[in-house]
Amino acid sequence: MSTASYTSHASARKDEGLSPLVGIVSILLGVLVVVLGFLAFAMWADSHHARDAARAAAASAHTAAAKAPASAAMGSNLGDLTSYAGAAPANAAELAAAHQPHPATLPALQAGPVAHVHLVLKDVTIQVAPGIKYAAWTWADGAPGPVIHVRQGQTVDVTLTNKGAIPHSVDFHAARVAPNMDFRDVNPGSSFHFRFTANDPGVFMYHCGTKPVLMHIANGMYGAIVVEPKAGVLPHADRNYVLVASEWYLSSDGLGKPAQFNMTKAHARQPDWMTFNGYAGQYVAHPLTAKPGQTVRFWIVDAGPSIDTDFHIVGTILNRAWVDAGLNSKPLHDVQTVGVPAGGGGVFDVKIDKPGLYPFVSHAFAAVDEGQVGVLNVGNVQGTMSH
Ligand code: CU
Ligand code: CU
Repeated sequence: MSTASYTSHASARKDEGLSPLVGIVSILLGVLVVVLGFLAFAMWADSHHARDAARAAAASAHTAAAKAPASAAMGSNLGDLTSYAGAAPANAAELAAAHQPHPATLPALQAGPVAHVHLVLKDVTIQVAPGIKYAAWTWADGAPGPVIHVRQGQTVDVTLTNKGAIPHSVDFHAARVAPNMDFRDVNPGSSFHFRFTANDPGVFMYHCGTKPVLMHIANGMYGAIVVEPKAGVLPHADRNYVLVASEWYLSSDGLGKPAQFNMTKAHARQPDWMTFNGYAGQYVAHPLTAKPGQTVRFWIVDAGPSIDTDFHIVGTILNRAWVDAGLNSKPLHDVQTVGVPAGGGGVFDVKIDKPGLYPFVSHAFAAVDEGQVGVLNVGNVQGTMSH
């Protein structure tokens, strides 16, 4: 159209005094405008229909995809975005005090060239916050699964036993193996066995990799494996704590009957609870401990399934940080906050001289409000955090 009007304008200027010709040209241009207009409309209508058709196809594909996982465990109800964040029974404080915190201390190494790991999957009801029940899929009767601690170069001998209702599997980020062979689905009532050599030092996630992975991770099927470098490679640490960050998406408040997984919230990344080691605020009620001047090493895995954790300790600075647990690289020094991506790990050393209560958080503060917070008590200080 702009070309036509430019031509018309130029012709009128150039052909001054040739009015009959100008008239004919004008008529022809007028016809051209009508034809072009019609063509443009036809093309618009065509593309509009094509777009509608594409949208309809995408919507039905999305619905089908969304229904497939849901039908496995939840009928056709994917849930809505109603938040149950912060739900609490009247005796929440007593329940928090009585809760046995998930052990955060790094367990001992297994001697010898082979470390044996037996992961037994069970469908169990757990608590993800004081009084909040959740129908989970777990190893070792809780989420996260057991911390596996091996030495670089050790062979990890894994047995997966499925005592649940549907197929499951286990995917080790520390392994260099063919996933179609070793991370295969295991049917209910069956066991599967494979080995890998832990050649890469760091802290790695392991998790169920059965589809929909989002749901299997969100339901509690994750844990951490620490692959410690050869003795003497890392500076000495006096305490070693393992924290697995994760989020929970609930179908109900979980105060009465156990909540189940809500796919709609998981897709929207709108969790109800976020935790270290599976239970909101457990290390606030039961702090981790250190003596003044000790080096404390945090081995952090972010299990997600979808949200990163931004690790920060209030009142101090991380002396050393091996980002994404790259223990073959030199650490960063003196950093305030380090991101640990979903599916990643980080190793952080901190040395605190002054006695006190030092909260550790994901500094993405919505995570703190939803429970991803704990306290490091340095020097056996009495009292609680006022903020
Ligand atoms: Cu699974
Ligand atoms: Cu993975």
